[in-house]
Amino acid sequence: MPKRPSIPAIPGSEITPEHVWLNRRQLMAAAGGLAAGGIGTALAAPETGGAALSFEAAKASDQRGFHTAEDKTPYEDATSYCNFYEFGTDKSDPARHAHEMTVDPWRVEVSGEVANPGHLNLEDIMGFDLEERVYRFRCVEAWSMVVPWIGFPLSTLLARFEPTSKARYVAFRTLYRKEEMRGTRSFSSIIDWPYREGLRMDEAMHPLTLMSVGMYGKTLPNQNGAPLRLVVPWKYGFKSIKSIVSIELTERQPQTSWQELAPHEYGFYANVNPEVDHPRWSQKYERRLPSTVFNPNRRKTKLFNGYSDQVASLYTGMDLGKDY
Ligand code: MTE
Repeated sequence: MPKRPSIPAIPGSEITPEHVWLNRRQLMAAAGGLAAGGIGTALAAPETGGAALSFEAAKASDQRGFHTAEDKTPYEDATSYCNFYEFGTDKSDPARHAHEMTVDPWRVEVSGEVANPGHLNLEDIMGFDLEERVYRFRCVEAWSMVVPWIGFPLSTLLARFEPTSKARYVAFRTLYRKEEMRGTRSFSSIIDWPYREGLRMDEAMHPLTLMSVGMYGKTLPNQNGAPLRLVVPWKYGFKSIKSIVSIELTERQPQTSWQELAPHEYGFYANVNPEVDHPRWSQKYERRLPSTVFNPNRRKTKLFNGYSDQVASLYTGMDLGKDY
């Protein structure tokens, strides 16, 4: 188990302070080397993902929260400002190093409280009926994006393996391949790998909960979690676990990586909530990418990230300040 600092370091901004990073980016942009949303270091790495997908496009008229009409975050920002600690803690590390991860072949084990345990290969994953969802995405670090994801409901995947009546939670695990994930070999690595996340069964079965295989019309770049990641738009981004290799249905609430590391800072539920501050910063506002020093693009954070109509009933009677 890696040695852990007393205060964990989820924000990459703590390692490269945000204002330094933003200033650097702006300087580069001002120097004329970059288009408005671009980031130099990311562009040096080989591109991953990007194969065209065929899917049902999200409809602007959708009333289920599947499509927000808000401006989409430019592709360059969503794919270069990333959190994927397996490749390093700086926001630019995943775009620079995640191409070192092999994503084909790929295998996802589905086990635990299911009548029909088994696995999915890459061909099976890409064989689900794909649809587009344009979601807001809010990181616990108080930056946010709007991303057109492509994928299929997690409920469709789970149904295939026939959950038993004992299945109350879903536990997810990310690939852990040390030789291809330089962040896991680093001295500053603070997570007890593999990265783990979990949902309650009703959250997992909710129609908004998406297994994503693509974004912006194409397969996921490695840095965004290729070939298969979770997207739970009403929860902080750390719940949206990337590059999944294991899905286990359980009777008991699973331990998750961030909760294990700092339970007083990162809860199991992690529902976006402007009234429940992180112990080290406020959650009342967020910066919508692209965000710069001169134009931080700051806006108020909404309860459940604006998906209250769809999900508030899942938490009736719960104290969201206690079950954060
Ligand atoms: N999944 C794994 N395996 N490792 C990670 O470090 N970071 C999480 C989440 N999923 C993370 C992960 C966090 S903190 C966030 S905010 C989102 O991924 C970021 O997703 P994005 O980089 O595609 O925007």
